[in-house]
Amino acid sequence: MIQYVIDGGRPLIGTVLTGGSKNALLPILAATILYGGPCEIHRAPHLSDVENLLETLRYLGAKTHFCGDVITVDTTSLNRYDLPAEYTGRCRASISFLAPLLLRFGRCSVAYPGGCAIGARPINYHLEALRALGNFRITENGCGVEVQGTFTGGSYSMPYPSVGATECALMAACFSPMPCRIEGGALEPEVEDLAGFLNACGGRISFVKGIWQSEPAPFYLHDQTLRYTVIPDRIEAGTFALAIAATRGEGRILGCNPAQMQGVIRLLRATGAEVVSGQDVLLVRGRNRRLRGCDLVMAYPYPAFPTDLQAPACAFLSTCYGKSAVLDTVFPMRYAHVSELGKMGARIALAKAPGGEPYISILGGQLRGGRGESTDLRAGAALLIAGLCGKGRSVVTDRGFVARGYEAICEKFRGLGGRIWENRIY
Ligand code: EPU
Repeated sequence: MIQYVIDGGRPLIGTVLTGGSKNALLPILAATILYGGPCEIHRAPHLSDVENLLETLRYLGAKTHFCGDVITVDTTSLNRYDLPAEYTGRCRASISFLAPLLLRFGRCSVAYPGGCAIGARPINYHLEALRALGNFRITENGCGVEVQGTFTGGSYSMPYPSVGATECALMAACFSPMPCRIEGGALEPEVEDLAGFLNACGGRISFVKGIWQSEPAPFYLHDQTLRYTVIPDRIEAGTFALAIAATRGEGRILGCNPAQMQGVIRLLRATGAEVVSGQDVLLVRGRNRRLRGCDLVMAYPYPAFPTDLQAPACAFLSTCYGKSAVLDTVFPMRYAHVSELGKMGARIALAKAPGGEPYISILGGQLRGGRGESTDLRAGAALLIAGLCGKGRSVVTDRGFVARGYEAICEKFRGLGGRIWENRIY
C-alpha cells in the first residue's frame, strides 16, 4: 500500500519530461514474440504493468533485460503457450499475448485478463477477430480461453473500435498467408505504434481510407537485433497539462506529441487556459486566470477526448468556476473517483441524462486537503491533482494503481514545485 502525502495549494511551475507510452509499449512487448529474435525497445517507462509483462515473457521462455529506458527481449527460445491467471490477472494487456502465441505455436491457453476495475472488459471482439482472420477452434472454460488453429486471412468489420481487439486483429493479420482487412478499427496512436512495430518485424500493414489492411508476409525467427522507440505517453503528458492548469500554474511539457493530444488541448482552451503547442512541447498557462467550466466533456475513442484523462479532467474542472458535465462513453462506469474527489472539497456528483445514462456533474470551486483512496490508475492521478490544488494536507492511499501507469510521478510533480511524497505503508 502506498500513501501519497501532499501539501497542496501551490501552482505547479516549471518543466516536466514525458516518458514512453505505457499503452503502446505493453502490446509491443507481447508482439516481440512475432519477431522471434532480439528486440531493443527504447523509451520504455519503469511501470509495474511493464514489469508484469516482462515477467510473463520470461515465464513463456523469453530472455528480458531492462536497463535505463531500454528493454531487451529475446523470444527465440519461447517454449510455452499457456498463460495462467497468476500472470494474466495482474494486467489487462496480457490479452495481447493471444495472437502472438497462436502464430508461434498454433495454439494457446490464456486465462482471462485482470487490470483496473473500470467497468466490464470482455474479450468478445478479440475472439471475433480471430474467428474472422483464421480457422480456429475457440473454447472458453469460465477461467480463460483455449484456441487452436491457423491464420488464413480474411476481413473483420469491428462493431466498436476497441483498442485491444484492433491490436489483436493487427497481430493476427500481419503474418497471415492471405491479405486481411480490418474495418471500423481503433485509430489510437498506440494502435498505430503497434502497427509500426509489426512492420518493423517484417509485417506489411497499412492504413488506407480508414481501413487497416495487411498483405501476406512470411514469419521467421530473426538473428539481427530490432530497435524500436515507442511513442511518448499522451496520457501522462495530458495528466501534467491538466495538473498545471488545475493549480493555476505555468509549465512546459517536453518530449510529448501535441498532435496526438488535441482532445485535452481543446478542453484546456475551452476553459480559458492558454496552451501553446510546438512539435514536441506543450506550454500550459493557467496562472492568474479565472478558468471556467465546460458544458459537456465527452470521452470517446481517438481522436476525441480520451477516457484515460476523464478522471484527471474531473479534478481539473472541479477548480474551474461554473458548471461542467463529463460523460464517458468508452467506459460508462468509470466514475469511482467522483466520491473520492468529493472528500477533497470538489462539488461533484453523479447525475442521470434524460436518456438515463450516467454523467458527472461538477460545480467548480476551491478544493481543500482531504483523504481519498485511489480505486484505479487514472482515478489515482485525479486525486493527486486534487491534492496538489487543495489548500492543506491531503493523503491519498493507493494499492499500487498509480505506479502501473505513471513513472516517478512524485519526482515529476516535485520538479514542478509540487509538495508531494510517497510512503510505502506495508
Ligand atoms: N469492449 C468490448 N469487448 C471487447 C473489447 C472491448 O465490449 O472485446 C468494450 C469495453 O468493455 C469498453 C470499450 O469496448 O467499454 C473500450 O475497450 P477497449 O478494448 O478499447 O480498451 P482496452 O483495449 O481494454 C485500452 C487501454 C485502456 C484505455 C482503453 C480505451 C491498454 C493496455 N489499455 O484498453 O487504458 O482506457 O484502451 O482507450 O492499452 C489506462 O491506461 O488507464 C487504461 C485503462
